[in-house]
Amino acid sequence: MVKIAPFEVELWLNKYIPLSKHFVSSSCPLPITLNELRSLSDKPVSPDHDPIPESLFSAALHYGTPGGLPKLRETIATLYSIKTPTPLPAKNVLITPGATPANFEILHALCGKGDHIIVHYPTYQQLYSIPEALGAEVSLWRSKEEDKWAVDVEELKGMIKPNTKAIIINNPQNPTGAILTRSTLESIIEIARENGITVFSDEVYRPLFHSISPADPEFPPSVLSLGYDNVVVSGSMSKAYSLPGIRVGWIASRSDEIIHRCVNWHSYTAISVSQLDESAAAFALDSSVLHNLIKRNNDLARRNLSILESFIEKYRWACEWAKPVASTVAFVKFSKMGKSVDDVAFCELLLAAKGVMFAPGSKCFGNGVDFKGYVRVGYVIETEKLEEVLRLVGEYLEEGFESVPVAKK
Ligand SMILES: Cc1ncc(COP(=O)(O)O)c(C=O)c1O
Repeated sequence: MVKIAPFEVELWLNKYIPLSKHFVSSSCPLPITLNELRSLSDKPVSPDHDPIPESLFSAALHYGTPGGLPKLRETIATLYSIKTPTPLPAKNVLITPGATPANFEILHALCGKGDHIIVHYPTYQQLYSIPEALGAEVSLWRSKEEDKWAVDVEELKGMIKPNTKAIIINNPQNPTGAILTRSTLESIIEIARENGITVFSDEVYRPLFHSISPADPEFPPSVLSLGYDNVVVSGSMSKAYSLPGIRVGWIASRSDEIIHRCVNWHSYTAISVSQLDESAAAFALDSSVLHNLIKRNNDLARRNLSILESFIEKYRWACEWAKPVASTVAFVKFSKMGKSVDDVAFCELLLAAKGVMFAPGSKCFGNGVDFKGYVRVGYVIETEKLEEVLRLVGEYLEEGFESVPVAKK
């Protein structure tokens, strides 16, 4: 049996979503319906231009095309080719059933016993627990809470070993909503290039950049466009594109060798992706829909973020944060008289009292040790629902916060 650590955030969600009235810790923006997706199209919907086109009703539902639906691979390749001198070929995009298998395949293609892997932290646990399960030595490269979750590039230089095989980053970052800026990414690439190291970036929250303008010189590009080929990224329809119910994600790399290794793992894990899912994804990413879809999600994120910000200002005596710049999540710290609360107890008590469900930071993102007092809030839900939830949390802070224990050292 291969031993792997419990996937804490997913286990927490599985356990408590059925018991909650208000689930406010999803990392997906408000999921969209196919009808709403249709309504976002600038081009009239027709039998050919539809999430599920008419031709699919009479098509044999065989396995999908190896590597993925050609139109979808081309569209995704184009998205990575903007502002780059050399376009990414469609053959260098591999469609997967979500980013979870994409990450699984990439990690299996990159990591093994005897390898040293550096992972940006905190992050989605998959990114460090799979390398550990594969026998790699994992070093966590910590974002600094006190510096709005920025990382220290000098520290990264000091972490490199002769057997360092990969640097894994998650940009924008789950659970903080922080970003690695352009200059930080350029430094990471420089360090990787000097040492012949692969860079793997989980970019599932691209392009949900609600609080930084693309005109900002520090706006983060995809690492695929920084002129280093030994790079691989994963992406997904679940997050920025609000379609977690169609299981479509992808792997993209300029390195044919990395893609070939991933294709081999893909054959063992997925074979192909549902034709129906791929077709809906191709519709959502079509230029007639894409911009309106991103606008829908960024507008909702901005509107809700300002509501969450007012809440945090009002309850400054109990909570604080580094305001997120991107994605759908915020990492909010709760404390009493300067002492972090026991975030697991807080989440459980709040759920029991008000039906509101958050994810505790120390359990879901901190190996039970780091990020005590933090909770992940998924705020890109219906605005009225967020307002109602924050009213309930406010009530709880006024009435029940007294009984929440502080964290043990
Ligand atoms: C950073 C990160 N990567 C990957 C995933 C998995 O995404 P998908 O729904 O595409 O499998 C998640 C889900 O929360 C995530 O936060």
